[in-house]
Amino acid sequence: MFENPTIGILGLGHVGLTTAVGFSELGWRVIGAEDLIEKANQIRAGVTPFYEPGLQDKLNSALCSGKFEVALNVRTAIESSDVIFVCVGTPQNEDGSADLSQIEAAGRMIAEHANSDKLVVEKSTAPVSTAKRLKDMMTKHKTLDWKLDVAVNPEFLREGNGLRDFFEPERIVLGVETESARDQLVTIYSPLLANMTNEDADTITHRNTKFVITDLNTAEIIKHASNSFLATKISFINSVADICDKAGADIVKVAEAMGMDPRIGPSFLNAGIGFGGYCLPKDIKAFSKIGEDFGVDMSIFNAVSSINENRFITVLDKLKNSLGDLDGKCGAIWGLAYKPRTDDIREAPCVPIITGLIDHGMSVRLHDPEAIDMFKKEMPIKAGVIEYFDSPEQAAKGTDFILIATEWEQYGQVNLSSIKDTMSNPLLIDCRNMLNPMHVTDAGFQYVGIGRPFLGKSQ
Ligand code: UGA
Repeated sequence: MFENPTIGILGLGHVGLTTAVGFSELGWRVIGAEDLIEKANQIRAGVTPFYEPGLQDKLNSALCSGKFEVALNVRTAIESSDVIFVCVGTPQNEDGSADLSQIEAAGRMIAEHANSDKLVVEKSTAPVSTAKRLKDMMTKHKTLDWKLDVAVNPEFLREGNGLRDFFEPERIVLGVETESARDQLVTIYSPLLANMTNEDADTITHRNTKFVITDLNTAEIIKHASNSFLATKISFINSVADICDKAGADIVKVAEAMGMDPRIGPSFLNAGIGFGGYCLPKDIKAFSKIGEDFGVDMSIFNAVSSINENRFITVLDKLKNSLGDLDGKCGAIWGLAYKPRTDDIREAPCVPIITGLIDHGMSVRLHDPEAIDMFKKEMPIKAGVIEYFDSPEQAAKGTDFILIATEWEQYGQVNLSSIKDTMSNPLLIDCRNMLNPMHVTDAGFQYVGIGRPFLGKSQ
């Protein structure tokens, strides 16, 4: 075990950068490395390459304190570190499996450039057995006889809440093969417990039990199973919402009452247009693929993905029901990021909706508080078809409907009465069920939610 370990972070994306500034704030010396030169330079200059609340300030403090630096290359980061967290991407292959090439490349680099014993920690989300294979691969590739131990420490950081999730984790899962790896990782995370004040004494006691120590395979499955379960909850509630729409019932009340049962729990029961982002959609597919490779019936996971991928059809049907022919109509889309508090648009549920609207001959006026620049790369401006606006009010002008695709807080504060007269037709499609239907109808709008068919009249 290293007395005062230097921590290396390979890959400075949402997970890597948040973890790097987090560990440096806990007092450790951290050296990050990022293959994308432009991104590495940006971080070195103190600018976060993506929007994550609070991260900009924490990055500045970490750099100023000298506790965090960005190495000029991966090799330097490896040579300077004792414990190396691999935080590279594991994108999706065409067959749904995880593309592990970045993890493998990191493993090869570590094996080639290790200049002392190292503990290599897989933080990237990877299918079961990846860490074991990484260890075998590094053992084969290593040029000198340093000991390369391997551990798995899955991350549970939500974009938009990454710092809170780092500093106040519900659990810290450590998949290890040796006592020294376990002790090393517990030591690295232990300032999280020490940082807490006396008033939190109960929580500390509680928190000491929050280390879940397992073998490597179990830790990898914990991560894939957690994300897949969250995805399952979302597709489940979305299917129930569709029944509510047909039968005439309120999904919000259904979810609220279901969530009161501690066996079910209230979170991740918000019906809407489904889950997006870089994690849930690809992780459930990768988990399904690995299960199928083992010969396990993964039909439940395949159904979750397929329900999610078809959510846009529900929305287009709602629009057709309200507007009739869509050709020549114009809609305002509020929210482009896959969820609030991020500028990430990867797998954003609004993309198939917007594509569907345009395919039906419609034009769209788009707004998002953070994600417009990113979205323009995916859907460039096309005069009279795709246009962007700095405020939700401007985006709504002259349109036949407003569609809320991301539940940004500011959309709840828009004065609907004042924009109603600027629109051609006051229809609001609330794809995240974020607004009070009574307030919307009181403002003179027709309200259409997801699984709330008759709200706004009597509820
Ligand atoms: C997810 C997990 O929540 C994290 O624990 C995990 O660490 C992370 O993936 C990862 O693997 O890196 P994230 O993708 O940031 O985090 O976002 P979530 O908050 O899980 O939301 C995912 C999607 O589900 C969003 O599009 C959100 O709008 C949607 N969602 C969420 C719903 O449609 N309904 C809900 O009730 C909750």
